Amino acid sequence: MDPNEEVCLCYHVTQRKIVAYLKRENPPVASLISECLGAGTGCGWCIPYLKRLYAMHEAGLEPDLLISPEQYAKQRLDYHATGERPPGGDDEQRHPEAPVP
Ligand code: FES
Repeated sequence: MDPNEEVCLCYHVTQRKIVAYLKRENPPVASLISECLGAGTGCGWCIPYLKRLYAMHEAGLEPDLLISPEQYAKQRLDYHATGERPPGGDDEQRHPEAPVP
């Protein structure tokens, strides 16, 4: 995902802002990413992705979501319509070196 794309679409928090927060604050738990402009405190769609970015950071990897912004936004719309995440959850976009959160 381009760093300037939004991970939390509810609060318009970009991947760049989240990664900068992780590097600056090194939070002890993923849920503290909510302190970064409220990321994850709206509809909840982005929470697994925030956890993924956190896990990458904890593993010493450069956090990056391997999903296009268009696919990400479409899956969020589907999630809002059905309450279901896509088959396989967000595992299909897992960074190949990232640990399972
Ligand atoms: S997209 Fe982040 S809380 Fe809705």
